[in-house]
Amino acid sequence: MGVSKLQLSFAECCGLCYNIRQMNELPKEDLERLMARAYAVKTATWGRRVALRGLVEFSNICTKDCLYCGIRRSNANVTRYRMTEDEIVEAATWAAENRYGSVVLQSGEISSEANTAFVEGVLKRIHGLYGDSLGITLSLGEQTRETYGRWKNAGAHRYLLRIETSNRELYSKIHPKGHSWERRLDCLRTLKNLGYIVGTGVMIGLPGQTEADLENDIRFFRDEDVDMIGMGPYLAHPDTPLAAEAPIQAKGRLLALTLRMIAETRLAIPDANIASTTALQAIDPEGREKGLLAGANVIMPNVTPVKYRKSYLLYPGKPCTGEESELCRSCLERRVKSVGEEIAWGERADPLHSLPSR
Ligand code: 5AD
Ligand code: FES
Repeated sequence: MGVSKLQLSFAECCGLCYNIRQMNELPKEDLERLMARAYAVKTATWGRRVALRGLVEFSNICTKDCLYCGIRRSNANVTRYRMTEDEIVEAATWAAENRYGSVVLQSGEISSEANTAFVEGVLKRIHGLYGDSLGITLSLGEQTRETYGRWKNAGAHRYLLRIETSNRELYSKIHPKGHSWERRLDCLRTLKNLGYIVGTGVMIGLPGQTEADLENDIRFFRDEDVDMIGMGPYLAHPDTPLAAEAPIQAKGRLLALTLRMIAETRLAIPDANIASTTALQAIDPEGREKGLLAGANVIMPNVTPVKYRKSYLLYPGKPCTGEESELCRSCLERRVKSVGEEIAWGERADPLHSLPSR
């Protein structure tokens, strides 16, 4: 789909009253109107429901060195861990038994035969227990086609790999040499080609990022025909090199920008699954609920054992690091109800965008 066909309200106002280089805030009423439009689209396509994915952050060992990430290889202040196969299966079982409908297995990026085989073994066990009734999503970074294929055969069917920013130049500024935007894009296309339901996303408020970049991010999601989108505010981690650069610091501004991105993305891709991310809650105690009202339809509650959670701080101020999964579950149910939504308990909830009939 050509860019000119996009009906983005960003595009409508750019050049008239907003300076695209400065990421000005939308006036409050305009943001509210935009969110209401996006929410109406979300309820029309998906209902007043929220799908859950139990997030298992099973290892923080990472060979990558992204300049913004708290668990980057060079951060010596992190205690490294990897959960055992039994622990991962147990966490996934907890999510399934508590009717979360789907799990996401996430870790730092490792490309080795040992790691591929380890994940393969875990997948076979989880898939063996629940078959296709439990959604299994992976978020394990850039891998070869062969590895992605093995994991798919072992039971995974969705994959999350954020492009981080659709602007190649900005991408190269926030990653060290050797990290390639093109390779990441190639991975996304390979995943799609292998039949995975594919998710991507970006960070919002990166140093040097412009409003035009964010507009292009949404075009990227459309052009790459992705099924799932996860976006969150960039939050400077003090142990990372990028923290020296000035990001958009004001939390209110970051929140408004993120809500605006969620709403614009919902309007651009009505049938995608869009996550209301934990990072949103890090900048506002009600951030995730606001994300739902901006058109998101997925929440990813953490089901990682509490003893590991403080070692998986991609960004500072990550919420729920001290909470047992049980507590998160009831807290979440209350929060979702508070905005008039219901949890789609026990539903695998694949994105409508990925269904063959569309
Ligand atoms: N702030 C916000 N998001 C971050 N991520 C990594 N570091 C940060 C940070 N400092 C996000 C990236 C990555 C995902 C797993 O976490 O987008 O893809
Ligand atoms: Fe790349 Fe963590 S080191 S996202």
